[in-house]
Order: sequence, then C-alpha cells, then structure tokens
Amino acid sequence: MSGAPAAGALAGKRVLVSAGPTFEDIDPVRFVGNRSSGKMGFAVAEAAREAGAEVVLVAGPVHLDTPAGVARIDVRSAAQMHAAVLGALPADVYVGAAAVADFTPRRVSEHKIKKTAGSDTLVLELVRTPDVLADVAAHPRRPALVVGFAAETHEVEHYARGKLAAKRVDLIAANLVGGAEGGFERDDNTLAVYWHGGEQRLGPAPKREVAAQLVALIAGRLPA
Ligand code: CTP
Repeated sequence: MSGAPAAGALAGKRVLVSAGPTFEDIDPVRFVGNRSSGKMGFAVAEAAREAGAEVVLVAGPVHLDTPAGVARIDVRSAAQMHAAVLGALPADVYVGAAAVADFTPRRVSEHKIKKTAGSDTLVLELVRTPDVLADVAAHPRRPALVVGFAAETHEVEHYARGKLAAKRVDLIAANLVGGAEGGFERDDNTLAVYWHGGEQRLGPAPKREVAAQLVALIAGRLPA
C-alpha cells in the first residue's frame, strides 16, 4: 500500500489517540518510565486530522508540539491516561499508541526516599495498571474501530495476534523494537499490522509516512 489517505477520508469521524510514555511516581523526585518518544502517536494524530477527522490526543509526558487542529489532553500516569481516554469517549476510532506502564508503585512516598545506613538494596513493590486498550475495547461506547500497538522484540506475529485476540481489538500495529528496523527513539519505523484474516506491512519509512499509511488503512477498514 502506498501514501496518504484520500483527502477527507475521515471527515465527520472522531478519532481518539493516546501517545507517549507514562511516568509512575515513586516519590516527589523519582519515577518509573519508559523510552517511548510519542512521535508515532503524534504522527497518527496529525495524519488523522489531515484526513479530516476531529482528533483528541491524550499525551503522556513528552516534549512534542501539538499537531495543528488537534485537541490535546496532557497526562502523566497510566491511571490518568486511563481516566482521560475513557472520559473522551465516544469516538469512532481509538488508536492506542501510548507505551502505558504495565506496573506502578503500590505507594507513592510523600517524601524523598533516603538511603538507609546499613542497607544496599531498595525493594519497590509494583502493582498492575489498568489496561486502557482492553477497557476501551470492552466499553459500552466502544469505538467502531479499536487499534492497538504491540512493541515486540521477537516472534512478532505470534505475540501481536495474541494481543489482537486477548484485548478484542480490530487492528494491531506491531513495532519491532530493539532491532535495526525502527521503534522507540527513532524517526523511521516499520509496522506489521494484523487483523483477523489479514495483514499489511507499512514502511520502513519516516514515522509521518508510516502514520499516513496507517490512517489510510484505518479509513479503509472503518465500517461505513
Ligand atoms: N496498553 C494499554 N494499557 C496498559 C498496557 C498496554 O492500553 N496498561 C496498550 C498499549 O497502548 C498498546 C497495547 O496495549 O496499544 C500493547 O502494549 P504492549 O506493552 O506492547 O503489550 P502488553 O499488552 O503490555 O503485553 P506485554 O507486556 O506482555 O508485551
């Protein structure tokens, strides 16, 4: 497949996108985070806007400019992202491009955690975060098309198709991370997109181009 979606391919549609990492606070000066740059999600939001959609972008802590015409909601933690995304429904499309932390500290320390004399270790107890993507897919106001991302280092199709089924989403865009083909902290990307009964490879290309191709694929698979 090539290029950008047809002009107006998403006219009249509301597209909700999540992007970036989440930061899970440990104490007032420390957090658990990840290396997501947010670039892919921001590029998807921009491409959806250019295709005519009304776009709401829920962004984790990133230093990226808001694409023109896109409504942005800034959040920090997985819990805040969960609340902001579910609160922004209904939408016709949800694209979960955020690298949501899977675990968060059980307790946020009110004060900076100090080193203790005689102890060389610190044990952090982490608990699971809510799964934003699965909760959107199971929501009474479920978007017609729910798109997830999967960051995989190996056995990409196996794990991506597993997430497609387990989270009951319509499309999974698998990102090969840790390899030469793209992923976190890079400007180029390759996506393998899977759905029940099909697949499509997008890129390698700059993230903006891959995002435009993904939006074209989404527009083509959105029920009329
Ligand atoms: N996701 C989410 N909420 C979470 C965790 C993940 O919405 N708490 C979404 C991501 O936005 C992405 C998809 O789930 O669209 C896949 O995330 P990924 O981290 O690749 O997979 P996991 O489901 O967390 O599985 P694993 O860690 O086993 O790879």
